[in-house]
Amino acid sequence: MKNSSNQIKIIFIIFLVLGITLSSFRRDADSEIPKKNISQLSRISLSDTTKKDPETGLIVDENLYMVKAQCTGCHSTKLIMANHFTRDGWKQKIRWMQANHNLWELGDTEKQVLDYLEKNYAPVQMVSRRAPLKDIQWYDLKLK
Ligand code: HEC
Repeated sequence: MKNSSNQIKIIFIIFLVLGITLSSFRRDADSEIPKKNISQLSRISLSDTTKKDPETGLIVDENLYMVKAQCTGCHSTKLIMANHFTRDGWKQKIRWMQANHNLWELGDTEKQVLDYLEKNYAPVQMVSRRAPLKDIQWYDLKLK
């Protein structure tokens, strides 16, 4: 009688230890879920704010058709999407392609192309830390 109640105690302890061990593994697995959700969320919010042209992947706006006409003949639009320049920077890239890679004169359409690139593929503003606090009024923490 006494023997069997000890056996029950031992079995209970084994299950307890097993449960604690398993639950510590489970917590590891759970902690990865929020990380995945955050990256999913940011991907969703990015794609929500800008419409992408399914054919080229470029951002849709009223001058896209001109960029498609002038800039998709020689290379993938990924080269455009991977770059972020100022209007002047884009102009220099166009001049560079004209000088070295047989890009034709864009004529009047250059303004539309530059309007598009400046608006949609400008240098990205990084979200960074706030500026350090100034004029901090320190006070003594009084403990009773
Ligand atoms: C006549 C062919 C041609 C056309 C049209 C053309 N490009 Fe290019 N572009 C090139 C070549 C060639 C390269 C170099 C590719 C490489 O390095 O692999 C290039 C490279 C680029 C690069 C990468 C530059 C770098 O520093 O790596 C960008 C950005 C670019 N082109 C944008 C444009 C834009 C915007 C237009 C439309 C105005 C355009 N391209 C039209 C030929 C062209």
